Amino acid sequence: MNDSTAKDLYDKWHNQIDEFGEDNYNSPWHLMVRQYLGDLSGLKVLEIGCGRGGFSKYLLECGADLVAADFSDAAIEITKGFLQNWPRCEVMVADIQNIPFPDNTFDCVISLETLEHIPDPDRGLAELVRVTKAGGRTMVTTPNYLSSLGVLRVYRELTGRPFTEVGQPINHPLKLIDRVLKLKQLKCRIDVIDGVGHYLYVPGTPSRRIKWLDRPRAISKWFAVHSLTVATKL
Ligand SMILES: C[S@@+](CC[C@H](N)C(=O)[O-])C[C@H]1O[C@@H](n2cnc3c(N)ncnc32)[C@H](O)[C@@H]1O
Repeated sequence: MNDSTAKDLYDKWHNQIDEFGEDNYNSPWHLMVRQYLGDLSGLKVLEIGCGRGGFSKYLLECGADLVAADFSDAAIEITKGFLQNWPRCEVMVADIQNIPFPDNTFDCVISLETLEHIPDPDRGLAELVRVTKAGGRTMVTTPNYLSSLGVLRVYRELTGRPFTEVGQPINHPLKLIDRVLKLKQLKCRIDVIDGVGHYLYVPGTPSRRIKWLDRPRAISKWFAVHSLTVATKL
């Protein structure tokens, strides 16, 4: 799929769906990242793949000097309206695979649930690290397919029903362990590896979260659906 087709599809998707709305900063992955953000006062922060700006607003509340970016014009129009009264905030259209900033620009670069939805996730990850300053942090979440979600996907594909994440046009089956290894290759120190969310998927019924599986985190994080890495660029 070329970049302009992907852009059209994401515009259509944002116009159809309400799931990633302006007030969306309480999903399981948002709650997980929020534990590790700390005080962002005075820090230059990029959030890319910001959707309609729900989590961007949370970052502004934490004191960030923020650039909020997304590939979709439709999403950015909504985000611009939503964040218009915030100082220290620039909202722009940008492709995560080709971020329009020089190397070493941001103290903190955040991208949530986006790398799995772009044509080249490895290039996107390398771009996130490139624009992070040496000593700065790159915080990334994606679904982890080494989990019940991966089993659901294989089941659906074997039974002839293609799998998507709520209708998004590109859905790479990424894994937490692969991202950890790639970040090391990109000369990052991994500060946090985390994961939550274990679900029981029974055909014909809504998915059920099994919360007690989140508790023995040291092992279960590797097999959870929502995964987080926080890495420092060396
Ligand atoms: C699943 S949504 C995640 C939204 C938000 N980060 C969240 O956590 O709820 C994925 C987002 O990635 C955006 N996106 C898709 N391809 C992109 C690209 N190449 N560059 C930047 N953003 C992209 C989509 O428009 C969409 O807003």
